[in-house]
Amino acid sequence: MILKEWLQESRYTVVFTGAGMSTESGLPDFRSSSGLWKQKDPSQIANTNALNDNVEEFIEFYRQRVLGVKEYHPHKGHYILAEWEQQGKVKSIITQNVDGFHQEAGSTQVAELHGTLQKLHCQSCGREYSSEEYVAEDYYCVACEGILRPSIVLFGESLPQEAFQFAYEEAEKAELFIVLGSSLSVTPANQFPLIAKDHGAKLVIVNRDETPFDSYADLVIHDKKIGEVLEELHT
Ligand code: APR
Repeated sequence: MILKEWLQESRYTVVFTGAGMSTESGLPDFRSSSGLWKQKDPSQIANTNALNDNVEEFIEFYRQRVLGVKEYHPHKGHYILAEWEQQGKVKSIITQNVDGFHQEAGSTQVAELHGTLQKLHCQSCGREYSSEEYVAEDYYCVACEGILRPSIVLFGESLPQEAFQFAYEEAEKAELFIVLGSSLSVTPANQFPLIAKDHGAKLVIVNRDETPFDSYADLVIHDKKIGEVLEELHT
């Protein structure tokens, strides 16, 4: 597999992951046939308006997702990426995922572009809460009675500046930029593969479905699951 050679040769490899990285852990992605946005309209649920207009559905939807990341766990592919970081084969992971599975598997250089379900905060005063309180059905802030929400980036909200800056610097430094399990359909996250490519990186996309950026890639793998590709590269 040519990717194995590129991985050996590259002095600076950056991995970019989307929801397809966690489907083999049991979590749904968003846009494939069994994805979350096939069951729910993101414009009704994944934005701050829902906190006012649709609060019960918002709470139930995100309570289920918080429960999900407690019930499911990283798969072998997450652990392979963490081992590659320890070996210096991978320098960092830029992720759109909010499940915390890369860190749970041991990766430390992780930019969470869309925040995390592992933390919550009060929409009004910003006070932080653990996910245990949310699961225990305490949805309102003890300090100001504002509503609690996961510390993820809802549509229309800006990305965390520190994560964005780190991701930008990593994409610029990459010699090899590997996308794992993303439809690359959400901006500005989907710009990082192009930033890497524009700065001279080889771009690899491992994704079951086609993406709008396939034509820019030096290698596209549609016919293998991410877990299988990572295990083949790891032997
Ligand atoms: N192996 C390879 N590809 C896979 C696998 C797998 N095991 N499982 C799923 N995929 C692919 C699907 O074909 C799909 O194209 O992963 C892709 C996931 O795409 P999306 O569901 O759109 O997820 P993502 O790209 O991460 O979405 C970006 O959208 O709603 C927002 O904030 C949310 O971070 C998310 C963002």
